[in-house]
Amino acid sequence: MILAASTQRTIGLVLAVLVVVGFLVYLLFSFRIGKREIGSEIDQAANRRPHVDDFELETRVLDRSLAWSLVTLAAVSLVLPMYWLMEPARQENAAIDWVHRFEVKGARTFEEGCASCHGPGGVGGVAAFTVADSDGEFVAQVEWKAPALTTVLSRFSEEEVRSILDYGRPGTPMPAWGLPGGGPLTAQQVDQLVIYMRSIQLDQDAATAEIDSGLRAGVGAIVTAADPSLTDRDAIHAAIDVWLEQATRPGSSDYLQYGELLFNNAAGQGANSCARCHTPGFSFGATSEAATADLLETWPRLADSGILTGWLPGAGHVGPDLAGVEAHFSTSQRQSEFIRTGSEFGIGFGNARTGSGGMPGYGGRVDDLDVIGTVERSQLLTPEQIDAIVAYERSL
Ligand code: HEC
Ligand code: HEC
Repeated sequence: MILAASTQRTIGLVLAVLVVVGFLVYLLFSFRIGKREIGSEIDQAANRRPHVDDFELETRVLDRSLAWSLVTLAAVSLVLPMYWLMEPARQENAAIDWVHRFEVKGARTFEEGCASCHGPGGVGGVAAFTVADSDGEFVAQVEWKAPALTTVLSRFSEEEVRSILDYGRPGTPMPAWGLPGGGPLTAQQVDQLVIYMRSIQLDQDAATAEIDSGLRAGVGAIVTAADPSLTDRDAIHAAIDVWLEQATRPGSSDYLQYGELLFNNAAGQGANSCARCHTPGFSFGATSEAATADLLETWPRLADSGILTGWLPGAGHVGPDLAGVEAHFSTSQRQSEFIRTGSEFGIGFGNARTGSGGMPGYGGRVDDLDVIGTVERSQLLTPEQIDAIVAYERSL
């Protein structure tokens, strides 16, 4: 396509040069001929010189003129279809070029406005955040995990991401950026950010590796707690493999814990965890019973204000309380299906509930496939992993 663009440009240049040179030659000759004194008008004037006879005129001369007309006609009629044959490539190139320019501008906005929290290239980071109560009184100063954005387009549609950028996420450090939410960025700048985010998405293997690393870190904590003599790296990894081997079987006594580890996955600053939206305080340190107790000891007003009253897995934050979720999904399969696709704005799910688009999908998005430019969409959780999470959720 790029080749097509430059070929067209070359043809255009050659034509332009030919036209200019031809015109110059024409000017040169006509001036010179006009200036030359060529002798007797009677001898030399074109209209007085004997010309070819009628026979010649009606055969050779006529044929030659007709042949030339045919050649020029053919040239003109070939140029027209050629133009239209090349038009799609030209348009496609224009679109790619436009997307590329958007990506570069989005990258600049990202480094200026977002990288301080989400890390350079969107790999995840932290935001210093002051928690206040409903009266605006100081409650706590916390470090809030800003999720990696390198799988965000596998979880949300681009429309949903635009909406997060426009309105931010109230109650979290993520501010509103778009004009509709009172932020400084125009709709076009928000589009540029989304197009930039396409370029930083992990491919399937990298996304799976990230989720696996978070899962294995969680299992590592379990196996080393069970056997403190495990210190060798290889031995720990072997023990993790053994644990996973049995825990991933639905009949296993560790199956729910397996689901819990996936629910709490810490990789990518919690990007692919459920807990950051469904467990109160998870993003700012309430990641376990003990960690929550520490946090509450440091900031007692968290409990006094009712913002964080203890370790309450799945009790709701950005997303709803999951206790009693069985009442909303008649079967585990329906719940798994919901987690695969996520919610969609205005579309019903479960037992007569309506989606806000705020619940991500984890089973691989297939929408927006007509996008131009680079975008990798991955299946973040396998159907088996989603089933394990659902079993854990239904046990809450
Ligand atoms: C002050 C810190 C901060 C800044 C600056 C910031 N963000 Fe965020 N952002 C966050 C936090 C924290 C979250 C997660 C909120 C939560 O816990 O649900 C978040 C969430 C998001 C999400 C949703 C991710 C998901 O998977 O749920 C997107 C998308 C996002 N930010 C994009 C951006 C972009 C683009 C910019 C720059 C225009 C930006 N953010 C600037 C802190 C920030
Ligand atoms: C970015 C925040 C966010 C993350 C991360 C998130 N959810 Fe949700 N979840 C929501 C929101 C918001 C809803 C409510 C639906 C809506 O508003 O569209 C919801 C709804 C749900 C529901 C339905 C609850 C009910 O009672 O109807 C289930 C089940 C659920 N989420 C499970 C999960 C699982 C499992 C994960 C992780 C694999 C997860 N969520 C990750 C925000 C999130």
